Amino acid sequence: MKDIEKSIGSCDDLKELENLRVSLFGKKGYFADAFAKMRTMGDEEKKQFAQDINVDKEKFLNLLAHKKLALEADAIAYEMQKDGVDVTLFNSDTGVGALHPVMQTMDKIIEYFVSMNFSIEEGPLVEDDFHNFEALNLPKYHPARDMQDTFYFEDSMLLRTHTSPVQIRTMLKAKPPIRMICPGAVFRRDYDLTHTPMFHQVEGLVVQKSGEVSFANLKFILEDFLKYMFGDVQVRFRPSFFPFTEPSAEVDISCIFCKGKGCRVCSHTGWLEVLGSGYVDPNVFQAVGYEDVSGYAFGLGVERFAMLLHKIPDLRSLFEGDLRLLEQFR
Ligand code: PHE
Repeated sequence: MKDIEKSIGSCDDLKELENLRVSLFGKKGYFADAFAKMRTMGDEEKKQFAQDINVDKEKFLNLLAHKKLALEADAIAYEMQKDGVDVTLFNSDTGVGALHPVMQTMDKIIEYFVSMNFSIEEGPLVEDDFHNFEALNLPKYHPARDMQDTFYFEDSMLLRTHTSPVQIRTMLKAKPPIRMICPGAVFRRDYDLTHTPMFHQVEGLVVQKSGEVSFANLKFILEDFLKYMFGDVQVRFRPSFFPFTEPSAEVDISCIFCKGKGCRVCSHTGWLEVLGSGYVDPNVFQAVGYEDVSGYAFGLGVERFAMLLHKIPDLRSLFEGDLRLLEQFR
C-alpha cells in the first residue's frame, strides 16, 4: 500500500492515475480482493479488518481525487500556455491602416459643405415607396422610375436608390430654412465597369423663403465646390431632367485627364459629368406641405469622384479589398 501511495504522489499523468485507481478500486483491484478475503474471517477479525480497510479506502479515494484535480488544472494551464500569445513580444511591422479611398473622398466632400454651413442628415437604407419615389414627384408607373433599377423587398419596401429620400425626411421633420447634405450608401441593380449594386452619394438641399434663393446660388456653390475638389477646372451646366427638380441641370467639369482636349475617358468630348442638380420641383414641396419656399438640390456619386481624383479605371476594384490598391491610399 505504501508503494501505491508513493506512486499516486509522484504520478504526473491522468492516464497513469486512472491505472492506479483501477488497481485499487477496479473489479480485480486491491479493495475487491480485500473484501473477498473478509468473507473467510471470523466475526471479531472481520470487524477490525473492515474498519481498517474502510479507513484505507477513504484515504485513497481522497488521494486520487486530489491528484486528479491537480493534474487537470495542470493540463488546462499547459493548454492555455501552449496557445497563448505573449503580447509583450517584439513584433515586426504589420502596417498601418487607413481610410478607404471612397471614405477619404466622402470626407473631403463633407468638409467642403460643412465649411459652407450645411448640416449633415441621415436616413434609413431600407425605404418605402413614398420617400424614395412618390414624394419626389415619381408617382407609380411613372416612366422615370426606370432610370433607377430598384431592389425590392416582399412588403413593398425597397433599398433606397438614391439619397434623395433624405430630402423628404428632413423636410417632413423640420421647418425651412434648410441647408443640409446627406452622405450615404445607395443601391441599384447594376454591375459593370462604372456601376456596382452599392455605391455612395452625397445629396444637398437648400430651402428658403420664396425668392431668397436662386439658380445663381446653386451655380455658385457647385462651381466653388468642384474647384475645391478638382482644382483649376472649367464647370458647365447642361439642361437635363430629374423628376424632383425643375429646371434640372447636369454639371460637367473639363476633363482632368486631357485638360479638355478630348480623350478616351471623356469620350473625346472634353467634359466629364459629375453632378445632378436643379431647382426643387413645386410638387416636392407640396408633398411635404411646404408653402412659399424655393430651393435647390444636387446629388453626386462619391465613387465616381474617387475614380476621377485617383485615376482608377474600374469602379469594381474599389470594392475588392485588394491591399495592392488600398495600400496606395495611406
Ligand atoms: N437623385 C439623383 C440621382 O440619384 C441625383 C439628384 C439629386 C439630382 C438632387 C438632382 C437633385 O441620380
